[in-house]
Amino acid sequence: MTEQLSTPSIQAQFRPQKLLNLAATTWYVVTTIGQWAFGIYVIGFYGKSTASGDLAKWNQVLPHGYVKGDWMGNLVVGLHVLLAAILVLGGPLQLLPFIRRRVPRIHRWLGRIYVTTALIVATGGFVMVWTRGAVGDFVQHISISIQTIYIILFALLAWRCARARQFDQHRKWALRLFMVVSGVWFFRIGLMCWLVLNGGPVGFDPQTFSGPFLTALAVFTYALPASLGILELYFYAQKAAKRGVITVVALLIFILTALMAVGIFGAIAGMWLPRIG
Ligand code: HEM
Repeated sequence: MTEQLSTPSIQAQFRPQKLLNLAATTWYVVTTIGQWAFGIYVIGFYGKSTASGDLAKWNQVLPHGYVKGDWMGNLVVGLHVLLAAILVLGGPLQLLPFIRRRVPRIHRWLGRIYVTTALIVATGGFVMVWTRGAVGDFVQHISISIQTIYIILFALLAWRCARARQFDQHRKWALRLFMVVSGVWFFRIGLMCWLVLNGGPVGFDPQTFSGPFLTALAVFTYALPASLGILELYFYAQKAAKRGVITVVALLIFILTALMAVGIFGAIAGMWLPRIG
């Protein structure tokens, strides 16, 4: 066995998969840092203002956040933003193989909470867009509404496969769910990456929050999520025999992770930290 592994041809076959694993691990670490930073912001801004009864403070960020007298609408917004913390803090934990293998009970419970929360947050967000209005234009509103459909569908499929003990399928649907639930986070870091690289707003009007760049970002984050395309490439590369294919997918993940890191830095420094500082 040792002899076989030390033959050059087999050694050579192993390297691209190692590169792919390294790319996936790097992506995971960067994503976790970025999502937890978002979660800390949500708790620090919405959690703190809600706990202190200062709901009007939501409007510093959300133009349609708190409306005096509309307790039902305010409840939907409050649940949406506060439960979002569970998704961005808990999501990365669900992907940790260590927790799945060593403490499966935690994985199962967090999974149930994650799926239920995703259904509530996504449905609440949909109601917010079409009853209270949201920033951005019609294409952005339609795009994020399509994201709601993905979230509901993937949540149900991930849950069903887990209950049926089809773990390979469950892993795939759970990862797809993680990608679409992370859509709003991808949108924010995508925007901040663009702003950092261009040194300011280019391709959109910051006053109306619309323009070709934001249309493209909304469509490829929400309606036709690029994240799902990359994930499918990753699944394909995991099984692929061709070294070139695996290497290209690994390099693509490295490049996108570097861009994500720029966006996360921009979001923390320019958006989240100043609001809770
Ligand atoms: C499921 C994952 C989601 C998470 C984690 C999430 C999280 C959040 C957070 C944290 C905010 C506050 C924004 C900020 O302070 O920067 C927010 C606002 C908002 N979200 Fe979501 N959201 C999700 C899905 C959705 C969906 C699917 C929709 C619509 C269909 C939606 C619609 C909205 C709207 C309308 C606002 C108010 C901002 C505005 O006026 O545009 N969200 N969301």
